[in-house]
Amino acid sequence: MKKILFISFSCCILFSLIAKAQRIETLLEKNWKFTKGEVAEAMKPEFDDRKRETVTVPHDWAIFGPFERSNDLQEVAVTQNFEKKASVKTGRTGGLPYVGIGWYRTTFDVPADQQTTLVFDGAMSEARVYVNGQEACFWPFGYNSFHCDVTGLLNKDGKNNTLAVRLENKPQSSRWYPGAGLYRNVRVVSTDKVHVPVWGTQLTTPHVSDEYASVRLLTTIANDEGKDIRIVTEIISPDGKVVATKDNTRKINHGQPFEQNFLVNAPCLWSPETPYLYKAVSKVYADGKQTDEYTTRFGIRSIGIIADKGFFLNGKHRKFQGVCNHHDLGPLGAAINVAALRRQLTLLKDMGCDAIRTAHNMPAPELVQLCDEMGFMMMVEPFDEWDIAKCENGYHRYFNEWAERDMVNMLHQFRNNPCVVMWSIGNEVPTQCSPVGYKVASFLQDICHREDPTRPVTCGMDQVSCVLKNGFAAMIDVPGFNYRAHRYLEAYELLPQNIVLGSETSSTVSSRGVYKFPVEKRGDVKYDDHQSSGYDLEHCSWSNVPDEDFALADDYDWTIGQFVWTGFDYLGEPSPYDTDAWPSHSSLFGIIDLASLPKDRYYLYRSLWNKNVNTLHVLPHWTWPGREGENTPVFVYTNYPTAELFVNGKSYGKQHKLTAEESKAIQGKDALALQRRYRLMWMDVPYEPGEVKVIAYDASGKIAEEKVVRTAGKPHHLEVVADRSQLTADGKDLAYITVRVVDKDGNLCPSDSRLVNFTVKGAGHYRAAANGDATSLDLFHLPKMPAFSGQLTAIVQAAEQAGEIVFEAKAKGVKSGKLTLYSSK
Ligand code: GAL
Repeated sequence: MKKILFISFSCCILFSLIAKAQRIETLLEKNWKFTKGEVAEAMKPEFDDRKRETVTVPHDWAIFGPFERSNDLQEVAVTQNFEKKASVKTGRTGGLPYVGIGWYRTTFDVPADQQTTLVFDGAMSEARVYVNGQEACFWPFGYNSFHCDVTGLLNKDGKNNTLAVRLENKPQSSRWYPGAGLYRNVRVVSTDKVHVPVWGTQLTTPHVSDEYASVRLLTTIANDEGKDIRIVTEIISPDGKVVATKDNTRKINHGQPFEQNFLVNAPCLWSPETPYLYKAVSKVYADGKQTDEYTTRFGIRSIGIIADKGFFLNGKHRKFQGVCNHHDLGPLGAAINVAALRRQLTLLKDMGCDAIRTAHNMPAPELVQLCDEMGFMMMVEPFDEWDIAKCENGYHRYFNEWAERDMVNMLHQFRNNPCVVMWSIGNEVPTQCSPVGYKVASFLQDICHREDPTRPVTCGMDQVSCVLKNGFAAMIDVPGFNYRAHRYLEAYELLPQNIVLGSETSSTVSSRGVYKFPVEKRGDVKYDDHQSSGYDLEHCSWSNVPDEDFALADDYDWTIGQFVWTGFDYLGEPSPYDTDAWPSHSSLFGIIDLASLPKDRYYLYRSLWNKNVNTLHVLPHWTWPGREGENTPVFVYTNYPTAELFVNGKSYGKQHKLTAEESKAIQGKDALALQRRYRLMWMDVPYEPGEVKVIAYDASGKIAEEKVVRTAGKPHHLEVVADRSQLTADGKDLAYITVRVVDKDGNLCPSDSRLVNFTVKGAGHYRAAANGDATSLDLFHLPKMPAFSGQLTAIVQAAEQAGEIVFEAKAKGVKSGKLTLYSSK
């Protein structure tokens, strides 16, 4: 990764840094002026923006709402979901005002006579970039990083350059909430004329073993003009030691990269469990003078795919235990925040998840860096649409002209990240059924192979009959299927690759803390409250419940794992409440809800995926006034093989997880035969208030753990728990505070929905809150939110000054909750 210097624009600091390093990277974060709507001449330096709103970038203009049914109302037939007739889709893009034009303006200084490039990590969308009144570049795709050389447009002394960016989101341009504005970072990179351009290195590890690894570094140099170039590169180990050095001088022919090779003995291999990172630090010299220093962060690891056998990392067989995620951060919208991403990954890690698919777009670079550091494999995917439309104003408008440029940027930006183990070229593109669709697929796959020969390519395919027949699936390195679990075996047998990836699986729908009766496995079921049942047995017409995917992974070597739809709930796509079902406006697919609170399903995955901890989770809650005597099934998600259930001391017997054979033997007789392999279920339990106790037994039959769930009494106080108490005073760090309405003994009041108000004092401020209710129209940024199923999350942001931050949650009828966080530099 490149060196980033966070500096103020004070001249003395700027120029004293120059003396030491020729490369300066500056984030443009504060004091942007923002205007929603078209503004004539806003690109001009003399445009008076003093009265415009001041914002900090990353900024998502639409997340502040309000939610409206009329925002981007789409009348469409979603053909992927088998719809034949157009119908009104409400909340498809989150019901938020992302459509329209927005202008951002700021100024920046650079040293005179430096080479200067602007790098945008993503700008939503159709970005027109102006420097000092002149158009510097245009980049239509809102999710991709792009850069433009603005050297020729700068003021002579390098000072007070006006940067203006015009963004435009068309209606009907997305199937989910895309966010709006400069929602990712913008930086100014200023270098000597002879320098390493943006994403200018390519580092591979052609040989990897426990004894040694070879490291090959290709460095592109701009403006070498036939000079003798010297590059001194040190390879730095994860513990900071120089483990290899090369000092080479040579003339490089125009356009050719400068090659250096290294041996690293006894390398620390990168894996999700051991995310070791190395650095290659290269000093570049021209005419005897150092002109650049560039750092490439990397990992040493090998990936392999063997037909009939599956996926191998560092020679070890493993299956992806992955999730798909959209890019939004729930109540923060699309505006990128590292602490929020880290929070997501921390929860997923504890679940045992080891892989992320960036559905269906290029990720923020911060996410990829965190996956390198925290240990997640990534499938990076650029497109939801190729040349044939899914959305009237979707990417298909730009595909022919821009696809290669978009691919190249993505590949160059992320090809040195060890976490990226696979590229996906698209998701459920209608092109898959076109007779010439294979040509488009091969065009994109070839770009991947050309720019990065080290990683396999997949594509999320959903039209199984088409792609098996028309040759499309046979030509993709790794055939990836979205859902259609019942066709995996057929695909495995027909396709030459003899492996199958679950590129998108499950799409089970549930609402945290909501349970519906009777408890049945059902597709496309809808309720008056627009929620789905927390028993994890409901899915859409095209999808399934998790157990089917678990069985495919367990029963066949050649299934190389799965990416569950989705890790987190996201804004938009409120299936099954997507057709004229306002106010539903966010998804129910997440294993974790929009407030970052795990649903029950989290523990089902954890019980199978996280082998380092024990899981014993009981559902539903046990506070059902009015259900006395009614059948209220109890499910237990656990890694233990056996458990016994007691209600108020009365045993309901032991249940054990069935083997594959035992489960097959009862198929047809028991609708939940497959579930009995992965869940312990007591289907006939009359509700009586009191205590549910589950005692779990290990494989040797010994009591291992017990769990008790009690009927809650009257709401008494708010319990507040922060995910972390020590923050960094950088103006960005976040604490996620869970607020629970509990009785006097601390039992959750599971149906409470009272309004909670927040105050934050001291060295921080209130940032946002969410409750995970997909029908809630409460605005995230206002310091109040009703509880949903008794809980919500409030997010507090540290200021730049260190100190104490006091958070308080208050609600009518219960005692308030208070906690103190600490922030330091
Ligand atoms: C898939 C699609 C995803 C999402 C999901 C919902 O078909 O690839 O983007 O729409 O369905 O189940």
